[in-house]
Amino acid sequence: MTEEYRILHKVAKILQSPSDLEKLLQDAMQSIIEFKELKVENKAGIFLADEKKRVLRLFNTYGAFSEEFLEKEKEVPFGDCLCGRVAVSGELLMSESCFSDVRHERTFSDMKVHGHYIVPLKSQGYLVGVMFLYTDTNPSWYQHSQEVLLSIGGLIADTIQRKKLEEELARHRQTLEDLIVKRTENLRATNQTLLDEIEKHEETQKTLLNSQDQLRKLSNQIQTIREEEKSRISREVHDELGQSLTGLKMDLLHVKDKCPEESVELREQLEAMIAVVDNTIKSVQRIAMELRPPILDAFGICEAIVWQARECTKKLGIRFDLQGLQEQVKIEQDLQTTLFRVFQETLTNIVRHAAASRVEVSLYTESECLILMIRDNGKGMNEDDIKHSDSLGLIGIRERVHAWEGEVEFQGSPGKGTTVTVKIPLKK
Ligand SMILES: Nc1ncnc2c1ncn2[C@@H]1O[C@H](COP(=O)(O)OP(=O)(O)OP(=O)(O)O)[C@@H](O)[C@H]1O
Ligand SMILES: [Mg+2]
Repeated sequence: MTEEYRILHKVAKILQSPSDLEKLLQDAMQSIIEFKELKVENKAGIFLADEKKRVLRLFNTYGAFSEEFLEKEKEVPFGDCLCGRVAVSGELLMSESCFSDVRHERTFSDMKVHGHYIVPLKSQGYLVGVMFLYTDTNPSWYQHSQEVLLSIGGLIADTIQRKKLEEELARHRQTLEDLIVKRTENLRATNQTLLDEIEKHEETQKTLLNSQDQLRKLSNQIQTIREEEKSRISREVHDELGQSLTGLKMDLLHVKDKCPEESVELREQLEAMIAVVDNTIKSVQRIAMELRPPILDAFGICEAIVWQARECTKKLGIRFDLQGLQEQVKIEQDLQTTLFRVFQETLTNIVRHAAASRVEVSLYTESECLILMIRDNGKGMNEDDIKHSDSLGLIGIRERVHAWEGEVEFQGSPGKGTTVTVKIPLKK
């Protein structure tokens, strides 16, 4: 193995070790100094190049240098003195004596006579820095110095470049990690806010459901009270008022009997009064019936629907097709009231809005459910009426049915009529 190969191998090995850049360069310079053929004195140093500012900056030195030197040589502009010249030319420079070489422009008070190898540090053709080595004055230059020093310069330049890239990479990695930490923190905070919001939302929803439940209970209670009130008023109007009027009619008939045949005018007056009382009795009966048909309490929902339908035919000529209403369905009283009121509101709607001539009503049980279906052949309810109705009729129907955990469906198509289907689960 030749000496040249040995020194190259040694420097390459040093530069591959995992130390920091300063230590690597220090060891590399020491090896060069130890390579006797070069005749390098115990002094060397490395500048790093700042291409943008066109200046060399002293990075580290090997051997004894004065404070003055270190201070003055902190920065050397490109083109200045020997090192600055090499930074511009990129060529190896050898100088025999600092005092006789005019290119050696920078001097120091303690400067002793010496010669120089100034080595460009180039990686892939790009100048990374400059290395200066001190030699004897007027040395007998070692014949392979050019090749050996340029090769070592290349190795050092590659190492500086690699370390710079590693540093940059580490900086990027750190920035990335900082960013990730920050993002994670942000995400965690957002997540917490979301969780808080969800909790609040759930709380509000619970409160809303509670108040909805309370409202439903209140509404049921009001319906029950209203029905009881209607029943009581209906009974009182029918019994009290009806009986008093009947008594009054009998009294009038009695007075008329006693009235002499000749008092024609008086008799006519009495007959007119009797007619008025008769009409009033009929009105009282009608009012009592409409408030709450006794037929509902006495015979149940089927009979009440039949009666209501007949009334409607009598007054408005609408024809009814009643199905399944003869079947004896055992339903509790309150549910019968619900079904009857739903039927009444649906019928009122048909009379008011549908312009129908036929209505089909069926009441039957199917898979543990009671089903009331009312279909008309009128103009048909539209989607908007069903979804956005703010009038109370449909809302009332829904509320009454929901109180029994049932469902109601409104179906309508223009010109093809409307079907209202109520489905209530029967309690076991
Ligand atoms: N059988 C029907 N045929 C056609 N349209 C209907 C029928 N039933 C209801 N509608 C439509 O649906 C709307 C909502 O009905 P809803 O009973 O809620 O209100 P309303 O009858 O107008 O007023 P109210 O609150 O006095 O009952 C009606 O205004 C009407 O346009
Ligand atoms: Mg209505």
